[in-house]
Amino acid sequence: TKAHFGLVGLGVMGENLVLNAERNGFSSVVYNRTYQKTEDFLLGRGVNKSIQGAKDLQEFVSKLERPRRVLMMVKAGAATDAVINQISPFLEEGDLLIDGGNAQFMDTERRVKELESKSFGYIGMGVSGGAKGALEGPSMMPGGTKTSYDAIESLLNKMAAQVEDGPCVTYIGPGGSGHFVKTVHNGIEYGIEQILAEAYDLMKRVCGMSGDEMASVMGYWNKTEELSSYLVEITEACLRVKDPDDSSDLVEKIMDKAGQKGTGLWTVVSALELGASVPTIYASLNGRVMSSMKDQRNYAETILNGNKPSFVDFGKPSDGMPLLMDAVVLATIASYAQGMDILRLASEEYDYDLDMPSIAQIWKGGCIIRSTLLSRIQDAFKKDPSLTNLIIDKWFTDQVNNRLSGLTQVVSAAANAGIPVPCLSSTLDYLNSFRTSRLPQNLVQAMRDCFGSHTYERVDKAGSFHTEWID
Ligand code: 6PG
Repeated sequence: TKAHFGLVGLGVMGENLVLNAERNGFSSVVYNRTYQKTEDFLLGRGVNKSIQGAKDLQEFVSKLERPRRVLMMVKAGAATDAVINQISPFLEEGDLLIDGGNAQFMDTERRVKELESKSFGYIGMGVSGGAKGALEGPSMMPGGTKTSYDAIESLLNKMAAQVEDGPCVTYIGPGGSGHFVKTVHNGIEYGIEQILAEAYDLMKRVCGMSGDEMASVMGYWNKTEELSSYLVEITEACLRVKDPDDSSDLVEKIMDKAGQKGTGLWTVVSALELGASVPTIYASLNGRVMSSMKDQRNYAETILNGNKPSFVDFGKPSDGMPLLMDAVVLATIASYAQGMDILRLASEEYDYDLDMPSIAQIWKGGCIIRSTLLSRIQDAFKKDPSLTNLIIDKWFTDQVNNRLSGLTQVVSAAANAGIPVPCLSSTLDYLNSFRTSRLPQNLVQAMRDCFGSHTYERVDKAGSFHTEWID
């Protein structure tokens, strides 16, 4: 009998997605560039399951029921184009290719157009949740034509993580919208990771806390409505692990250089192009760039003087260090707010017609940024689907009003201690800018008009004005 769907690319994500589908009653055929990998899988984790292998793409395609559904889990970029080119000659009208990797969304736009001109369907699908999510239930963000999505809807609904109001998958929109939404998901992911790293740095260097003590604060936060989330949960776990060699905190042995595969960068580039203000997310990206300049930082520390850490009381650890929690809550809210703002603007600019409450809904389970806060985000966009900024929703406004003083104290304490907190301080500037009706850009406008006759508008009368500022 022919298989329900096919998988190309037996990396850990691919393997786990196939096993997930099989558990949910969907048979498959798998193909990998090196056949050895396929054989190992079929004799190992894939043994005695309705999973068959194929040695080449022709055999692979012939083992699939029609219309064929082929999920590609290969490296983004050239490797994805290569698979598309190799498999296309064997496909027939109505067959469907699904790219489950982290593709650049403009690549997906191009591929959708190319493949659809050959009468194939093409779905660009963001998949989040790492290896465990892929196996147990990821969050999935499929974009492309709706009819293509309909052909895989039942499969995806079963495979996805389930939350109280349904599976963590929905049709996102046309073209590259699925990969775009996944990219922004990752931008928010970068933001929250950096925020938690900054909180750790403050607890360690300002408060002198041990890994276990810091982990307990994370444990406290993970029980609160505002911060309960997967990333806080794994941060607690990471801070508790000891190096088997000497029983010291393992995290202290890790080189302080953070890598990146591109999605955070693409989020920021898109934000800049769309005119979205995303300083918290940008600060997290820059944090990684700065972290990679290890040699330069080693030298600079020996020649640049500045403030030195000294103790500041952020509140009792057993109460979750309330001031630090204020700062972390507001920066986390800012990451989500900025990410949702990019989505809102992209939805208009690229005609994606994104349904904001549904996006919040499918992020509530399975994905890396899952959190209880997403229920509040979902509610806010349900109440007002055209909400221009999450922060003006009542619940979030109250959070800002209650916690801004805490964030301010933490950022000034960090500055006094000479400790960088790029996400926390960018959030403070973001919030202070956003809540300021009159900003000083009137003076920028004066300068632009002075040297370049760029003209300016006035607050007291309509029109476009120019002044000879210098005699
Ligand atoms: C997820 C993750 C995952 C992503 C890495 C890459 O949602 O499961 O976002 O898809 O590939 O986290 O991020 P880096 O750029 O940090 O490597």
